[in-house]
Parts: sequence; C-alpha cells; structure tokens
Amino acid sequence: MSDHTWPSARTGAGPCLPSDRPIKSDCRPVCALHNHTAGPQRQPVQVHLHSSVYLFTMAAPRKVCIVGSGNWGSAIAKIVGANAAQNSKFDNTVKMWVFEETVNGRKLTEIINTDHENVKYLPGHKLPANVLAVPDLVEASSDADILVFVIPHQFVGKVCDTIKGKIKSDALGISLIKGVDEGPDGLKLISDVIQEKLGITMSVLMGANIANEVADEKFCETTIGCKNKNHGALLKELMQTNNFRVTVVEEYDVVEICGALKNIVAVGAGFCDGLGFGDNTKAAVIRLGLMEMIAFARIFCTAGPVSSATFLESCGVADLITTCYGGRNRKVAEAFVKTGKSIEELEKEMLNGQKLQGPATAAEVYLILKHKNLIDKFPLFNAVYQICYQGHPVTEFISCLQNHPEHM
Ligand SMILES: NC(=O)c1ccc[n+]([C@@H]2O[C@H](COP(=O)([O-])OP(=O)(O)OC[C@H]3O[C@@H](n4cnc5c(N)ncnc54)[C@H](O)[C@@H]3O)[C@@H](O)[C@H]2O)c1
Repeated sequence: MSDHTWPSARTGAGPCLPSDRPIKSDCRPVCALHNHTAGPQRQPVQVHLHSSVYLFTMAAPRKVCIVGSGNWGSAIAKIVGANAAQNSKFDNTVKMWVFEETVNGRKLTEIINTDHENVKYLPGHKLPANVLAVPDLVEASSDADILVFVIPHQFVGKVCDTIKGKIKSDALGISLIKGVDEGPDGLKLISDVIQEKLGITMSVLMGANIANEVADEKFCETTIGCKNKNHGALLKELMQTNNFRVTVVEEYDVVEICGALKNIVAVGAGFCDGLGFGDNTKAAVIRLGLMEMIAFARIFCTAGPVSSATFLESCGVADLITTCYGGRNRKVAEAFVKTGKSIEELEKEMLNGQKLQGPATAAEVYLILKHKNLIDKFPLFNAVYQICYQGHPVTEFISCLQNHPEHM
C-alpha cells in the first residue's frame, strides 16, 4: 500500500499451529512437512523444504466495524459478514454498532446476537453469525482497520465526536451515508465531515441499492468512489458478491453528491405520483433532476474533474431511477400530497424509526445555493424545499417542470 500502513503481521511459531477459529478456504498456508493445512493463517508461516527455510509473512487480517445498523446498515452487514468469513484478508468477527433500543421487551443487540436478525430494521433476513452487535460505539470501533459508516446523516456529528481520538489513526473509512452538510463555505460532503473530524482516509459507496432488495440478494450494481487504487481494490473485496457488483471510480466526491441529490429528485417524483401524473412525467422529473445534479456537481465538486461517465455509473442515473420508483422518499412524498400531513408526521407514521433523507437534503442544498446566490439555477431542488418546508402548494412542482430553464 503506498500511503497506508496496515498492521504488520506477527512473527511467530512454525507451521503447525492450532487453529483458534475456523480457517477460511481461500488462503490456507500449507504445511509442507505434514501435508495438511496449518492455522491460523494470520501467523507468519515457516515452511521447511529440504534444508532451506522460507518465511512467508502475511498481513494481519483487517478488523471491520459497521457503524450503524438500520435498514441499509443491516443489509450491508449481511454482505460484509459473509465476505469476511470467507476472505483471510479480513478478521472473521465483524462488529456492528447498534444504537440500542428495546424491541418487544428485549434489547435489539441481544436479539441480533441471539437470533441473528435485526427484527426492527431488516426483518425476515438472517445476519451471518460472525456479525456481532455492540451497543457501545467506542468498543465497537476502537480496534477497527476498516470503518463502514452507515447511519442517517443527521447523526454523523455526534457519532464522530464520540469516537474521535479513540479509533486507529490509520483506519480506512467508507461512507454509505446519503446526504450533505452545510459548511461555512457552502457544501460539505459527509465523507469530508468524517475525514476532518476523525483524520482518517475516506471513500464512499453509493448506488441503486434499495436495502431490502440487496438483502434479498436480487442482482444490482454499486459504485465505490475512492482516490487510492489499493484501497479501492480492498474495499471491493469486502463488499462485492455475485449479486452486488462493485465498480470503483476515482471521483469520490461526484459519487457522493449523486447519492445525496437523488433523494431530493425522488421527493419530486413522489409529488407527481401523489398528484396522479404518469410515467412520462416521472421520466421528465428524472431527466431534469439529473441535469440539476450534474450542474450542481460541476459547481461544487472541486476536488478534481467531474466527468459525465460517473453519472452513468450505478451511483448516478441508476440510483436516481430506482429511488424515483421504489424508495422511501418517493413513498412519503406521495403520501404528503394525498394526506396533507407534514413530512415529520409521515416519517413517524410510515417509516417505523427509519429516517427520511430527501427533504432534509433539500433544506441543506437550499441554504448552500442561497449562500452562492444560485437558487434560480436549480428550480427543481428549490421547489422540493419550498413545498416541504415553506407551505408552498404542491402544484408548484408542476409549474417548476413546465418553466424549467432546460425548456427556455
Ligand atoms: N435503506 C436503504 O435502502 C438505503 C440504501 C442506500 C443508502 N442508504 C443510506 O444509508 C444511511 C443509513 O440508512 P439506514 O437505511 O441504514 O437507516 P434507517 O433509516 O433504516 O434507520 C435509522 C437508524 O438510525 C438509528 N438511530 C436512531 N436514533 C439515533 C441516534 N440518536 N443516533 C444514532 N443513530 C440513531 C437507528 O437505530 C437506526 O439504526 C442513510 O444515509 C441512507 O440514506 C439507505
């Protein structure tokens, strides 16, 4: 690894060590003297061949912690747990920080560790037995080499403040969080917030990945945004399965901004559903939304080039389509139109503790655009904010589509 130092392997005893845990199939050192697999494979292995002694040193397995255990956190725990159990690059135990709550009179962590199911956020899916639910955030994260952040974005600040200075300084972080923050100079990516607070190298994973479908192992694609090729390859190994195909691209900021902004567009798609419009209208919302996403990225993603190709990855157009048809933002926005209830009421009523990202992101984006005097250039994003929070009639969304600058 060019810019990252992984824990070095221990030096130690010979080839025939007793195994203290199941040995994974893909990388077993073979004891040449006794012609059987030696373990544990994490130990450096001396193999005696004739009179020569060769020392094979293997990197210590990376410990992985999943910070979050909601719908998506639990679905990704299913994948990461299964991959870690089979790949000697990763420690077998995957810790998952669970925001403790009581469900049917039992602690959620106890339910997960006993029944191997997150009955509140991902019911009906067994988690691998090597996924260990831990209620204490510091305990869960302090020895991790890889931290997978997957919490609603409104909790990021508090979570980082809790673990700051208590995690490995050379840990790698990957954010699956969709949302943006508003900094003094305008836009702040969630991965930048985490990186600044914790001082660790961050990557992101975003894509057309509705959690329940991923947990059902229905085929889909995803995108990792990562500046370092070695880190990207390692994270891909941790995340990829036959039914969850990972592409790694360098434009991590574009990948992340797509993941945040598509939720605003999905709220607009839900408005159209609530008003009784059809698929043609939704296609127009998707197209105009995509144009605003690209324009936004070209202004605010200043870390490097913003190429059109990134919008053609799963994190771009694919995630936008799936969210505008299937996601919770669309669903709640439709109910917002049909019931006249507030977004907050509907979030409580419809989502069983899950959090909505689209309206909150629209509010943050509104402030960012206002700060730069750019509101007029993003009428779709602005209309979603005005309708959700400023009491504007939902029919204004259709006027916004009719008068969009793309048509002028
Ligand atoms: N669900 C999906 O299909 C999906 C897909 C891709 C990305 N994402 C993104 O993943 C992120 C996490 O979403 P999710 O679906 O896993 O969560 P969720 O909305 O299903 O669940 C909410 C989570 O927040 C936790 N929580 C509640 N109060 C808290 C507090 N005060 N502090 C910390 N945690 C608290 C809950 O325990 C629960 O784990 C979001 O940014 C979301 O946009 C979700």
